[in-house]
Amino acid sequence: PAFFQVAIDGPASAGKSTIAKILASNLHYVYVDTGAMYRAITVAAKKAGLSYEDEAGIKALLPKTSIEFKPGTPVQRVFLNGEEVTEEIRSTEITNNVSLVSSYAAVRSDMVDKQRKMTEENPVIMDGRDIGTTVLPDAQVKIFLVASVSERAERRYKENKEKGMTVDLETLKKEIEARDYKDSHREISPLTKASDAIEVDTTGVSIEEVVNTIQDLISKQQ
Ligand code: C5P
Repeated sequence: PAFFQVAIDGPASAGKSTIAKILASNLHYVYVDTGAMYRAITVAAKKAGLSYEDEAGIKALLPKTSIEFKPGTPVQRVFLNGEEVTEEIRSTEITNNVSLVSSYAAVRSDMVDKQRKMTEENPVIMDGRDIGTTVLPDAQVKIFLVASVSERAERRYKENKEKGMTVDLETLKKEIEARDYKDSHREISPLTKASDAIEVDTTGVSIEEVVNTIQDLISKQQ
């Protein structure tokens, strides 16, 4: 690749976006949150009044759909056809239906094209499920980030609480497991560790330590 690429994949709530954002800011790379793109197209289906099961309807939306990122703190802002959807993409309804929408072939090929375009002019850190295996198979650094289900549910619980949402821990655990199952068992580019990815387990490890580990791996490749 002309510009440096870091691919971070892993199951839901393993800390990918937290880690990727810090690395991107430290290294002055562009951060691409591909999960936010799949979430945005799921919101597009909802706004169009389509059922999430309506594969043909959702496919027809794709050419009319624009997804943009704008800088913001603490989170990047996400715009769907010019309208801000930063919060809506994280709602429970969208979270529980995004795996179905992102299993559709037309959705995947459209998103993958958009994601590859984002690597043409800048070094990038991209996080998702299929970055190391499909989107950026030649990335110089590939990380597969994992953590125990209990720890991931606890992280999600804390995030929710900060936003004033209360979903009990058991429900969160079940939602995370269901999403991981769907993401790892779909037909097209399922969640899986690329053969040349380095697995980093974040269970019980501080954010700072994880960032340092990955930053060391990146500097070795530069
Ligand atoms: O990363 P995040 O949890 O926000 O992703 C939301 C969903 O989008 C995932 O559960 C998965 O269904 C889908 N996704 C995907 N491929 C990616 C990134 C996300 O299918 N590269």
